[in-house]
Amino acid sequence: MAIELAEYQVCVDVFLTTQSYVDIASISIIPRTTGGQVYYYHPFSAFSDPAKLYNDLRWNVTRPQGFEAVMRVRCSQGLQVQEYSGNFCKRIPTDVDLPAIDCDKSIMVTLKHDDKLQDGTECSFQCALLYTTVYGQQRIRVSTLSLPCTITLSNLFRSADLDTQFSCFLKQAANGILTNPLVQVREQMTNLCISVLHAYRKFCATVSSSGQLILPEALKLLPLYTLALIKSIGLRTDARIDDWSFWINYVFPLSAQLAIPLVYPRMISIHDLDSKETEGSVIPLSSEQVNESGIYLLENGEDCLIYIGSTADPDTVRQLFGISSVGEIPSQFVLQQYENPLSKKLNEVINETRSQRCNYLRLKLCKKGDPSGALFFSYMVEDKSPSGLSYVEFLVHVHQQIQSKMA
Ligand SMILES: *[C@@H]1O[C@H](CO)[C@@H](O)[C@H](O)[C@H]1NC(C)=O
Ligand SMILES: *[C@@H]1O[C@H](CO)[C@@H](O)[C@H](O)[C@H]1NC(C)=O
Ligand SMILES: *[C@@H]1O[C@H](CO)[C@@H](O)[C@H](O)[C@H]1NC(C)=O
Repeated sequence: MAIELAEYQVCVDVFLTTQSYVDIASISIIPRTTGGQVYYYHPFSAFSDPAKLYNDLRWNVTRPQGFEAVMRVRCSQGLQVQEYSGNFCKRIPTDVDLPAIDCDKSIMVTLKHDDKLQDGTECSFQCALLYTTVYGQQRIRVSTLSLPCTITLSNLFRSADLDTQFSCFLKQAANGILTNPLVQVREQMTNLCISVLHAYRKFCATVSSSGQLILPEALKLLPLYTLALIKSIGLRTDARIDDWSFWINYVFPLSAQLAIPLVYPRMISIHDLDSKETEGSVIPLSSEQVNESGIYLLENGEDCLIYIGSTADPDTVRQLFGISSVGEIPSQFVLQQYENPLSKKLNEVINETRSQRCNYLRLKLCKKGDPSGALFFSYMVEDKSPSGLSYVEFLVHVHQQIQSKMA
């Protein structure tokens, strides 16, 4: 059915408002093949979800988009496209068919080189997208990029792009999950990270102080995000099967800018929003950073969790949420704006995040001693947990592996 729809240039999006298991793994083949996407509201609440459903639908029909598209990437001598990854249909090896393409979808192109490249010369890439606009005009968008070749590996590391590098890890993981055991995918991801850092250690590091872990400046957070990836929903064995399938589907068309926030969400404190000068300084995802007297907001581009500490100031809680104690936290929640500066500030922050993310974040209040609290703390990826090492332990592991490769 997916291929037939794609042949007739029909793009399918699926909106799932559900309380129970729906088998996203099977259903999602249709949106994935036709250039669409899955929207997932679970557990659906007729009280708190309509605003998101409305916004998602509205954005879906109004966002910039093109129809009946075909895309191809070409590159100069010595280079070749190895693989495309994203939501599309592929009938011939060189082209990607897209019944529809919109501004939120990304396609990753991995390249391989099969011939020697000359130092100091340039190699070029060209991407052509043929599509029909919503007004029925046929267009071709051509993007060309030319890049210098170098034999000096440190130049490569100096200009490495962490977002793109990590996005590539993330999509490889999502692809791997479909055919390999999770434990193997986790190991592959760790090994990818180690081999990047090992190459740097071997060919670029000047200091020979062997006792140290030497990281390239541009990729110094790669181990942290790799650890976060290993602990993310898609690579965990304790995830609900639909959450897991949704995660995989969410990853395939994801843009490079949203890859890191998905596994390493942004956390800020909100009890002190009105007194803070520097707007929302980001807090590391470690439970040591979470003070039970505070209130914290954590968002990954799709969901937004607000954790209210067990000893949070009742007055602050009332100003922000209109309830008088943590005990009164509703399981279904709609953010209101109250007549006080703190509440206004929180609404501003949430509005701003929603517009940055091109997505109407789903809000959830969390507290200790409740599944919601456990959910919040499951994002504290720098902690040691049943799903993996602490950040410090992971760095030690990476270091040891590099050492043993050097020996
Ligand atoms: C959502 O967007 C896609 C791609 O932009 C489009 O093809 C589809 O018709 C839209 N779906 C709905 C339900 O509006
Ligand atoms: C937690 O917050 C309270 C109130 O702001 C403060 O007095 C206390 O020192 C903080 N504790 C830690 C460990 O940061
Ligand atoms: C946030 O957005 C909502 C909905 O668009 C709007 O009603 C509200 O006034 C906004 N609040 C602030 C503080 O910008």
